[in-house]
Amino acid sequence: MSHSDQLIVFDTTLRDGEQSPGASMTKDEKVRIGKALEKLRVDVIEAGFPIASPGDFEAVAAVAKAVKDSTVCGLARALDKDIDRAGEALREANSARIHTFIATSPIHMQQKLRMQPDEVVAQAVHAVKRARQFTDNVEFSAEDAGRSEIDFLCRIFEAVIDAGATTLNVPDTVGYAMPHQFGDMIRTLRERIPNADKAVFSVHCHNDLGLAVANSLSAVGNGARQVECTINGLGERAGNASLEEIVMAVRTRPDIFSCQSELDTTQIVACSKLVSNITGFPVQPNKAIVGANAFAHESGIHQDGVLKSRETYEIMRAEDVGWSQNRMVLGKHSGRNAFRTRLESLGITFDAEEELNAAFSRFKDLADKKHEIFDEDLQALVTDTRTESVNERVKLISLKVCSETGETPRAHLVISLDGEEEPGEAVGGGPVDAAFKSIESIVNSGTQLQLYSVNNITSGTDAQGEVTVRLEKGGRIVNGQGADTDIVIASAKAYINAVNKILEPPSKAHPQNGNV
Ligand code: KIV
Ligand code: ZN
Repeated sequence: MSHSDQLIVFDTTLRDGEQSPGASMTKDEKVRIGKALEKLRVDVIEAGFPIASPGDFEAVAAVAKAVKDSTVCGLARALDKDIDRAGEALREANSARIHTFIATSPIHMQQKLRMQPDEVVAQAVHAVKRARQFTDNVEFSAEDAGRSEIDFLCRIFEAVIDAGATTLNVPDTVGYAMPHQFGDMIRTLRERIPNADKAVFSVHCHNDLGLAVANSLSAVGNGARQVECTINGLGERAGNASLEEIVMAVRTRPDIFSCQSELDTTQIVACSKLVSNITGFPVQPNKAIVGANAFAHESGIHQDGVLKSRETYEIMRAEDVGWSQNRMVLGKHSGRNAFRTRLESLGITFDAEEELNAAFSRFKDLADKKHEIFDEDLQALVTDTRTESVNERVKLISLKVCSETGETPRAHLVISLDGEEEPGEAVGGGPVDAAFKSIESIVNSGTQLQLYSVNNITSGTDAQGEVTVRLEKGGRIVNGQGADTDIVIASAKAYINAVNKILEPPSKAHPQNGNV
């Protein structure tokens, strides 16, 4: 495949995906996702916005150190301090990219930046030159390009290519574009910019009108050779373009697209599950490619057709994106080595032996309650072990819930708060409500419950329930997760996980808040 035929896949799950309220990830979680993206053979991983907070800086540096095969990218506004911080965070990367941006639409330049177009061009050129001092792989984004004037885009892109930008990104920041119009925009830019052949055109679409993937594909049809996207379409508001949908559309329709990605698509489902697990954002069952029903043929006519010849109703093979039958992988008698080996095959490794021991002891407890342990159980178990091993102020010690016909459910629990064990008790409309109220009777978090959801991880009544709890306090939103074969315990764990997050000090700047 020649270079011009390659579709570069730029994943921004760890940066734009993380901007989704409640989807914030720890450094270790980012490294785990970064390694999974590397296994998927994503070309560029945008690991974060290093100036946002010390935590973001460290996470980008940790991903840059851990990932060897993909380029690791850091976001920076077109400001010296941002670019220097990104350059520093990426110091240990095998292959580093700095992604700098400034807004170019009239509304953003006038209202947000309060800058004249000439000043915006000068700042963009300066930023690209500064970024080139750290790496020769520099991407420039014209924020809100979807609502920018084409003449101005041509001017600023020509100037930043001369300054050394190697990728030009055209974001539809507010998800306003229509597919035919966005495709035309890419073609026009490529035709009108005199030095266009010196850079790769990229697109970055948001999904406010449900068109992020359609707009990205229209751009690819018109010569864009990089797509910016996220696993499961995670991202602010309605999300970003979904990686799996773009990649599989291009792969399934070579008659339409004259380029291909180099991804190992069999890793898609594993990545999707990992991201969903870590962020607590469930994947809807009918979601294309990665939804539980994406390859399920329910109707008799379809089943009959698929059995005679699968191509009658299937345009892709489930195996090609990593779906496999639930297989019993481990059981009660499996040893530590089998456990470790199976986790390694799922891309899960441990830095410390104690971490492995803690996960193995949980595995043994689970195997006592549940005969067959599937990959999905292992993933949830590890997430659970890891969410509980962070410096948490609140820990669940024990929980007892009484639920009886005709009686009001009552929960009794003991939790440890800052190292002190405290008992709590409450009644509620149901056992979960009673458990949450008993936690609140001790922690008084002052939060509002925004979402409570339960999914079974595998099938069967002995399956583990995976619970997500979303809490809000003063505009800050966090998600907590918990898994257990007892869904009331899973719910209490998820609630406590969310409370622990809300108790941590918030300290993260948003990249699109202007030049402050
Ligand atoms: O949506 C957007 O415009 C962005 C930029 C920072 C590329 O995320
Ligand atoms: Zn974005």
